[in-house]
Amino acid sequence: MAAIEIHPRLRVRQESPLNAEPEPAVLVESFRTPNELFFVRNHGDVPAVDPESYRLTVDGLVESPLSLSLEDLQRFSRVTVGATLQCAGNRRRELIEVLPIPGELPWASEAISNAEWSGVPLREVLAAAGPQAGARHAAFLGLDETERHGHRFQFGGSVPLEKAMHPEVLLADTMNGSPLPPVHGGPLRVVVPGYIGARSVKWISRITLQENPSDNYFQAKAYRLFPPSVTPDSVDWETGMMLGESPVNSVICSPEPGARLPAGPVTVRGWAMAGGGREIARVDVSADGGRIWTTAELESRDSGWTWCVWAAALDLPPGEHEILCRAFDSAAQTQPAHPAQVWNFKGYANNAWHRVRVAIS
Ligand code: MTE
Repeated sequence: MAAIEIHPRLRVRQESPLNAEPEPAVLVESFRTPNELFFVRNHGDVPAVDPESYRLTVDGLVESPLSLSLEDLQRFSRVTVGATLQCAGNRRRELIEVLPIPGELPWASEAISNAEWSGVPLREVLAAAGPQAGARHAAFLGLDETERHGHRFQFGGSVPLEKAMHPEVLLADTMNGSPLPPVHGGPLRVVVPGYIGARSVKWISRITLQENPSDNYFQAKAYRLFPPSVTPDSVDWETGMMLGESPVNSVICSPEPGARLPAGPVTVRGWAMAGGGREIARVDVSADGGRIWTTAELESRDSGWTWCVWAAALDLPPGEHEILCRAFDSAAQTQPAHPAQVWNFKGYANNAWHRVRVAIS
């Protein structure tokens, strides 16, 4: 496998396997994140995939199992969907400040990016296989291998069949108009808009329709949400909530933490994202701990499958300030004030108010 080129504006959180997130400012410089700056989340090494011999298997509770080459996939119609992917572990660093979370990546708040994906609607491929009456979940398996507790296995996960049959879910071979880069799952990945990034399985090799969710480690154990009292020693994996739709979230990307700014109006910019296809209804910014809020302008947005980029102007006197943001989605759901309110031992789904300290001189 050729070495992966890492853009200097990507902050590497782990070299092998490669895990990296862009500088905060990158995320608000353009609505779509350029491919070379899109965050990277890998649990194993990027597999070398030969496009000639590549086959996608569709099996399980289907009338006609399929084995499709990349050329076979050209027979289906094509669709383009704007979708933001966010790792369930985004903003884990703030949870780690509450209590340590050993063995998990300390993502800051940039394990999220937005792209336009093109490919084949998943529902067309599933319809060609013919789901049987008992099929309830679509289980995905990637070609990459990882190791946990002495076992080597391929990355996988599942979504309810009902979601898999929605028109926005696709098998993508194109990202922002270019062939899907290998590090993002090329030649083919699943994109499940509105769900945690883990369900958008890269290097997809097999789709199995089944009665129950996937028993893959990354569905059965990881990417589950546990109460704050549960620890690695006391965990009963069965009892955790499988993560699917993401919670509403927002983050300040500019100014960055620790910025020293001249007195006068300060433009605060960031992203906000609602899960499950809901839209962002409002973003508020405060510089006094949340007593007075300024409503931000929603600058660019596409649909409920993408984030929106927002901006607000604040007049700040000289001194130290903490700027906060919070978003409301179209179901009037909003964010909790403190990461301690959502702490969990795997460090998922932190959507607390985002806080950035700056100095005005
Ligand atoms: N698919 C495979 N095969 N292997 C992986 O490690 N990581 C998942 C998902 N799909 C992963 C995968 C996770 S946790 C996330 S957040 C997204 O891919 C990240 O996609 P990206 O690297 O294109 O940003």
